[in-house]
Formats: sequence, structure tokens, C-alpha cells
Amino acid sequence: MKTYKAAELRSMFQQFFKDHGHAVISSASLIPENDPTVLFTTAGMHPLVPYLMGQKHPAGTRLTDVQKCVRTGDIDDVGDFSHLTFFEMLGNWSLGDYFKQEMIPWSWEFLTSEKYLGLPKEKLAFSVFAGDEDCPRDEESAQLWRDCGVADDHIFFLPKENNWWGPAGLTGPCGPDTEMFIITDKEPCGPDCSPACSCGRYLEIWNDVFMQYNKQADGTFVPLSQKNVDTGMGLERTICVLNGKKSVYETELFENILGKIAELSGKTYGQDEETTKAFRIIGDHMRTSTFIMGDDRGVSPSNMDQGYVLRRLIRRAVRYGMSIGMPDGFTGEIAKVIIAQYKEVYPELERNEKFVLEQLSLEETRFAKTLRQGEKEFDKIYNNIQNTRATLDAILAAENKVALAQEYAQTKKLRPSPDMLPIIEAAKAGDEAALVAAVNARLESLTTMDGRSAFKLYDTYGFPIEMTIELATEKGLKVDEADFAERFKQHQATSQAGAEQRFKGGLADHSAQTARLHTATHLMHTALRKVLGDEVAQKGSNITAERLRFDFSFGRKMTKEEIAEVEKLVNEAIAAKAPITCREMTVPEAKAEGAIGLFESKYGELVKVYTMGEFSKEICGGPHAENTGDLKSFKIQKEESSSAGVRRIKAVIGTTADE
Ligand code: ALA
Repeated sequence: MKTYKAAELRSMFQQFFKDHGHAVISSASLIPENDPTVLFTTAGMHPLVPYLMGQKHPAGTRLTDVQKCVRTGDIDDVGDFSHLTFFEMLGNWSLGDYFKQEMIPWSWEFLTSEKYLGLPKEKLAFSVFAGDEDCPRDEESAQLWRDCGVADDHIFFLPKENNWWGPAGLTGPCGPDTEMFIITDKEPCGPDCSPACSCGRYLEIWNDVFMQYNKQADGTFVPLSQKNVDTGMGLERTICVLNGKKSVYETELFENILGKIAELSGKTYGQDEETTKAFRIIGDHMRTSTFIMGDDRGVSPSNMDQGYVLRRLIRRAVRYGMSIGMPDGFTGEIAKVIIAQYKEVYPELERNEKFVLEQLSLEETRFAKTLRQGEKEFDKIYNNIQNTRATLDAILAAENKVALAQEYAQTKKLRPSPDMLPIIEAAKAGDEAALVAAVNARLESLTTMDGRSAFKLYDTYGFPIEMTIELATEKGLKVDEADFAERFKQHQATSQAGAEQRFKGGLADHSAQTARLHTATHLMHTALRKVLGDEVAQKGSNITAERLRFDFSFGRKMTKEEIAEVEKLVNEAIAAKAPITCREMTVPEAKAEGAIGLFESKYGELVKVYTMGEFSKEICGGPHAENTGDLKSFKIQKEESSSAGVRRIKAVIGTTADE
């Protein structure tokens, strides 16, 4: 049987589309820049949203890449055979260029030609959109598959829930798709067995999306100004399916990683269910964490936004590591294996290796401390519950229940908390039936840890809720998750931390205010380098409707004078009312012109360079204000440490007269 290696699949895919006139572009950062609505890049199309909407892409109208993606919605499922929080997506795009007539025959050629995947035709199945009130039945795609030689019983018309992709957020580009499946040796699960069921007979390997609609906030679909193609092939999954492996973890991509875990723990992958689950969780979470920190916009573990997700991933990996006897400091050892494996495809991992290892070591230490304190607190909460139970059991067992309850109330063994009041009142009233009912009700509620305690563990001891649930389950307790979620939401709202709310707004919120704050970020970046020196390099940027946040490398706290000087320089640039212009050029040309910014592109592709008067020149995807004067004014609100060697500034700008 033919075997397929990840490296071969990556280069074969890209070569195929290069041969069909596509420019190979580099993977965008995992941390979307200037997109306040999402935490991570979740699909190949994600960084291309402005271009799918009609903006001109500097590399042309036919693009292909391998995009780093993170999806953490499924974090709790990781450990089964197919879920991953990080994956690579092979993709190609037509930005208003070719459409179905070209894409479907190309897909067919790539899948079946001996030069490429060489898959037997009878092993392939295809789904197309069945049509509804938003968009007609996709007969055209079905006919194109038939023209390739696909039999009718290998083509399935499926509804929106199966054959529609996007938008990535709540609004944005989307459309009907046609999906490609390998038919496995599994027997059909019934007469209606189709790619829509999850019985495992049909395994998806590729998705061609015909992006021609923009989903609006009101739920309606408006045709885009251009018809696009967006395709995605998940590398890990496809390698798994093509090689007939049972699980993504059994592919070559996880061989070294799981091997290292075995070496460090002395355990064997597959020896029993628990150990296998731990290996998978550690392998997956360490890979994702290494890519998040090893990005040129890498973040550190924290309690907010991407940093919070990262912290959860690392801490969950550490906890599972402890369960199989991994030694202290193991996360760094695993990260080294991951960096060595991927550095050729993603050179940024090597550039940022030191940062990754430092952050892992710091986080492991912090977590160990937190765990010790948190576990003490957890035990306290648990012991309180047990004591209360014992007290209540004693009442139920007593001959004179009312008398004992009265005694306990007097000696405060039954504390007059709102939970206990019905018991105390029934005891006072001397009503034994009411007392027994109240005690039983209270005992029942004691099988659940309340949301307040769970939130305290999170807020004070950094215990992720998942961990509290895991610990509680071990002790036979449930956790009031709804109440926890309510408290968490209130906390988020008051601290304006927006990890959750950032999923609400839809993608690419290119409002005028975002553009202006983004321009302010450029001006400040230049000003920081003027005042503090060239050591300053961008480490992260995040914009909300209210403020900008900018992380940069610098070894110490800024002085008051330095902050004032940066503000003065930016305000002078604003007062100069300089026009902002954008030009396309190659990275070496941009460097030669003295542009700053992240030089992460390869292959000589064109990039955009934004110039703001004489003051600032930076490589960037936009968008920006038209004139520096649009910013009105600039003020730094806070300068603080973000992590070792990285400072963080939050700043605001003035409002315009028409707002
Ligand atoms: N954007 C499409 C996907 O993620 C191709 O499947």
C-alpha cells in the first residue's frame, strides 16, 4: 500500500497549485493581529478575510499555503482518536479568479492522479450542497464530479449543517462547499449511511468552499462582490486517513513526541486507556503551546485572552504528566522535540526557542506552587462539605432529631448561613417532618460543589474550572458549572477581559476606530524605538474598541520621562496631520527602505508597507486611518511587565467630532 509522509503531502500540495499559477504564501501568525474578535487563527481562510471580501492581495488572485491553526473549542475532547487543538491546514484560494469549473477537476486530479495522491476512484465519495432558501441546490458541482467519472451513488446532496462552511466568526464570507471523503472498509451503518453520519465509513480529507456570500449580523446572506474558492485539507487528519491509521496520534507526526513522553515517563503508549489518554493530551497540548509561544507574535501564559488558553493547555499537560510520572521540567524536553521536528517548515520556532523554554519553565514552577496551595484549599472545601454531611447525618440518625438540631443550632455547629436556615427554622418550630425534609434537601445539594468555591479556586489559585471538575469527580462531587460560569462572566465584564466576548463580533472588525488605534500602534512602536532604542521589537498587539495594547521586548520598567517622551513624539506625529500611504514590495525592498515590522514572509512574496509621513514605515496588512490627524490625541494609560523581558503598554486615542 502507498504510504504518505507529511512533508511529501505539504510539498506535493503546494507544487500542484504552484503549477496551476498559485503564489505560495507563508503561514500567517497564529495570533491574529488587529482582529479584536478572535483569539487564534482557526483556518487557512482566516487571515485572508479582507481579500475574500474584495481587497487586493499583494501576491495576486491565486494563493496557496500551509496555515498554522488553533481550535480550542474541543479541548475537552482531546484524548480521543481524532481531536487536536493545533493542526496545519493545506489550502488554496481563488480571490475572484477561478471557480467550480476549475477547482473540481483540479481536486479530482490531485486526489486520483498517480503523480499526486493516486487514490482509487471507487474509494472516494463526494458531498455537495442540497440547497435551501439561502442558496440553490449545487447541481453544477455534482455534474462536474460526474464529468470527472464519479458515479451517482458516490455523490451525496447534504443540507447546510453538513455542506456549508463559514463564516469563521458570526459574520463574514461563507458559502456552500463540496467535501471529499475516503470510503473505508467499514460496512455501511444502514441504508441511509452517508458522509453525513459519523459511523466512520466516510472520512473527510478535503473541503472546497465556494465562498460567495457575506453573512450579515442579522443572519441574512448577501452575495459578495466576487466569487471565491477557499479549500482546506487538515494535514494531520489526512495523513492519518491516507495511511489507514486509527488515530492522528499514531501518525509519523506524533512519533517523536510520544516517544519522548515514553522515555521520560517509563510508560508505554497503548499500555492502558488512562496512559494512552495522558500521552495524547500531553502530546497535543505541548504541540499547541509550543506553536503559540513559538510564534513571532507569541504570547506568555496569563489570565487573559490567548494567555489564558495557553495557561490552560500547559497546566492540563502538566497535570496529566504528573499522572503518568513525568519528571519536573518535562514540558521543556517535549517542546525541544517539537521544535526540532518542525523548525524547517516553521523557522520561527527556532528563533523563539529560548522564549518558549523560559516560559514553560516559569509556568511549570508557578503551577506547582499554585497546585499545592489550591489543593489545600480544595481539601478545605471538601472537608467542610464532609463535616456538614456528618452533622446532618447525625441529626437524621438521632432518636430525637429536633432536639439534636436545636443543640447544633445553639452551639453554631449548624451555622446560620442561608443554606442552613430552613433546617434551623424547622428545628426551632419543632417540626420533625419539615426538619427531615430540609436536612435531606441540604444533603442532596452537598453532592455539588457550589459555584462560589469553584470560582475562588479559579480566581485566587488559578485553578482552571476543568481541573476543579476533575478533582471533584475523583471525590464523587459535581460542580455547579452554571453558577461558576455566571460568576466568571461577571468577572470578565468587570475586568473588561474579553476572552469570551471576542468571539461574539464576527471576523475582521475593521471599524474606523480599529483602524485608528492600529495607526496609533505604529506611531507608538516607532516612538518607543526612538526613545528606548532598537532593542524594542513587537511581541504582540491587540485592539479593542476602547484601547490598544502593545507588547514589546524591553528589559526594564520605563521611566516617567520616557513615557512622557513617547507620548510627545506620537502627539507630534498626529499634529503633523501626515497622510498615510501603502505600497507593495518584497521583504528585502522593505528592509532596504528601513521598514520595521515582522519579517516572517518567505518565497519573495509581496508585502504591504504603510508609511506615515516622515515618522513611521512598517510592514503590515492594515487597515489604517487615512491621516495621522484622524487620531486627535494619544495617551499611555499603563506601562507594566507582561513577562520576562517583555513590557506591555495600554494606550488610548482621542475621539473624533462625529462620534
Ligand atoms: N475554510 C474551510 C475549512 O476550514 C476550507 O474547512
